[in-house]
Amino acid sequence: MASLRVLSRSQLRIARVGLPHTAFRCYATSKPQTLKERLAELIPKEIDNVKAIRAEHGKKAFGQVTVDQVYGGMRGLPALLWDGSVLDAEEGIRFRGKTIPECQAELPKAPGGSEPLPEGLFWLLVTGEVPTDAQVKALSQEWAHRAALPEFVEEIIDRCPPSLHPMSQFSIAVTALNHESAFAKAYQEGISKKDYWGPVFEDCMDLIAKLPNIAGRIYRNVFGSGKLPAIDTSKDYSYNLANLLGFGDKEAFVELLRLYITIHSDHEGGNVSAHTGKLVGSALSDPFLAFGASLNGLAGPLHGLANQEVLLWLMKMKSKLGDAPTDEAVRGYIWDTLNGGQVVPGYGHAVLRKTDPRYTAQREFALKHLPNDSLFKLVGQIYNIAPEVLLEAGKAKNPWPNVDAHSGVLLTYYGLTQMQFYTVLFGVSRAFGVAAQLIWDRALGAPLERPKSYSSEAIKKMFANK
Ligand SMILES: CC(C)(COP(=O)(O)OP(=O)(O)OC[C@H]1O[C@@H](n2cnc3c(N)ncnc32)[C@H](O)[C@@H]1OP(=O)(O)O)[C@@H](O)C(=O)NCCC(=O)NCCS
Repeated sequence: MASLRVLSRSQLRIARVGLPHTAFRCYATSKPQTLKERLAELIPKEIDNVKAIRAEHGKKAFGQVTVDQVYGGMRGLPALLWDGSVLDAEEGIRFRGKTIPECQAELPKAPGGSEPLPEGLFWLLVTGEVPTDAQVKALSQEWAHRAALPEFVEEIIDRCPPSLHPMSQFSIAVTALNHESAFAKAYQEGISKKDYWGPVFEDCMDLIAKLPNIAGRIYRNVFGSGKLPAIDTSKDYSYNLANLLGFGDKEAFVELLRLYITIHSDHEGGNVSAHTGKLVGSALSDPFLAFGASLNGLAGPLHGLANQEVLLWLMKMKSKLGDAPTDEAVRGYIWDTLNGGQVVPGYGHAVLRKTDPRYTAQREFALKHLPNDSLFKLVGQIYNIAPEVLLEAGKAKNPWPNVDAHSGVLLTYYGLTQMQFYTVLFGVSRAFGVAAQLIWDRALGAPLERPKSYSSEAIKKMFANK
């Protein structure tokens, strides 16, 4: 008989508070430690760590805040705590200190696979630690078991007209999951502040687990590709997502999704989707409401919708210039875009000042799996030309490609050609980063966000004599 591990009184309380579906669970030592158990150990330490940082540095200043920053979309303004990842302008993203190649090397993989499993990335985002293969497998199974949608949410999705953009359908469905929120229920029942993270953790796990069924249902409804298969509880998250979309038999596509979800998961806290989720969560709106709001931000063309825009732009370029255009023709097309008052989609970034390592990771995937694809070649050709044109045009601070310049080409290659759906896949991925931070925000007692705003009149008066 498996022996039971003895839990402390506070761990027991945490375990109970956070498990709405099962009143109480026993933990056998033969099973790997769960993410929630590990979190319960880490949270008290992190609370002390934050207390110490605030005691020592709390009154120190990051630097000046300029009027230009207030008018300029708060670029570079230090204003948020975000633990999962940090973005360096030159180097790109690091997830808990690890670069994308380091994550590819260190995180657990599927048997026979070479890309990291997003389950492992989520564990890393939440704990700062690399999980074991057994822990990742347990997470795959847990998500598969939580994946079913309430019937009314299925009906809501089915009632959306196919002409409604998939991102709007996605946001509606995620928001409706609030009906099942463990946190909203616990709050109504008077849960203590220090226990908030437990039901928020449960909601975040449910949120991530249910996204493949939401995405798959929207995809099949909108693009008419038949009945949704059941989740396979023996398979990993990316396989199930691929299978729900109708691509379960393409192992390379499943590998692509593993990489895709990993690299799109998190990009520190200030981007529109991440910040929106954190902001809405700070009002103690549950994770479904908070992430629904994130999705509405992700649906904007300057943010997540850019992956759709890139493909549209590439297709228009191809139909105008043919399959193998000359460099001169491509250069002319890019200039036409700029002269038409439009942005070159997939290029530029609010923080990055070099080629996005997420672009590079996808390029390497393409070099391995589809080196001779004509659209991939066109993307590579644009990479050699667009930065030069953007530099010459002289406006964009970063002329290099971002993540969105590449993703659509890979999806198209495997037959997922419906570009209106691309941002939904970005959304599935972004849930990982937002969820990790929502859990920590509630664990650390993050307060309601409330920055100060000024009118132009007030700014003029404030600096009138300075
Ligand atoms: C991502 C993006 C919104 C960042 O915006 P930002 O931080 O304001 O960027 P910058 O400070 O470099 O912008 C300065 C000027 O260059 C322009 N610019 C930036 N990137 C550009 C691009 N790819 N094509 C054309 N113009 C661009 C801006 O529109 C801005 O013009 P304005 O002064 O007339 O308003 C911007 O680069 C962009 O629109 N890129 C295309 C959309 C995209 O790929 N989005 C996905 C981002 S991950």
